[in-house]
Amino acid sequence: MRTPLIAGNWKMNGTCSSAAELARSLVDHVATDAPCEWAVCPPFVHTPAVAEQLTGSSIQIGSQNVCDKDQGAATGEVAGDMLTDIGCRYAIVGHSERRELYGEDDQLVARRFVAAQRHGLVPILCVGETLSQRNAGEAETVLRHQLEAVFQAAGEGGLAQSVIAYEPVWAIGTGETATPEQAQAMHAFIRELVRERDAATADKLRILYGGSMKAKNAAELLACEDVDGGLIGGASLDAEGFAAIGAATRS
Ligand code: 13P
Repeated sequence: MRTPLIAGNWKMNGTCSSAAELARSLVDHVATDAPCEWAVCPPFVHTPAVAEQLTGSSIQIGSQNVCDKDQGAATGEVAGDMLTDIGCRYAIVGHSERRELYGEDDQLVARRFVAAQRHGLVPILCVGETLSQRNAGEAETVLRHQLEAVFQAAGEGGLAQSVIAYEPVWAIGTGETATPEQAQAMHAFIRELVRERDAATADKLRILYGGSMKAKNAAELLACEDVDGGLIGGASLDAEGFAAIGAATRS
């Protein structure tokens, strides 16, 4: 079935040496026999230092974004082949902080998704509604639009080599977590949306939950049928806590 993926999004934290230290500590704490796969997404500039520490371990590396273009005049961006060159396997695209703080819309996110795949990266596509959208009953419509843009850009089978992260914006960094019932309902909805467009992919697709997941609440979220892992922010900056989340995955 679907092997859970436990991925840490380190966001904009730390220094090269603290990132390397955290990676080293993860190698010590992460159980190699846990029933999940592991990844960490450090800031771009810390990635080589982290990769050095993770060599030979089962912990993979992702980036926090990827340029939609391949090279050239795109100041401040990082291209997909630059990321594979420094050891990345995954690339987060469409994180709500990119959407909200930096104005990335569904179409740009979809282009970044396609660019990740073009360079052999597995995109981790973040989707999710804000609190006001949820309160207005628009959560499902928002998810539909976010996914539809990717299907338009990537084609019907485009989600096959990808991971989705459902991250309700109201749960990110707030300490407020979706209940297992809320998470399961949205994950099942996402899987059905994918099934409408690509039945072959729907049951294989990993859908991670993100939003204040930590060791204390991970087991009940990860026990949900359609929750296939987590994308973890704050709690991924502590090696022991991150390892404990993975240990809580269902086998
Ligand atoms: P927190 O776990 O800090 O809420 O962040 C979640 C997130 O944004 C992961 O991408």
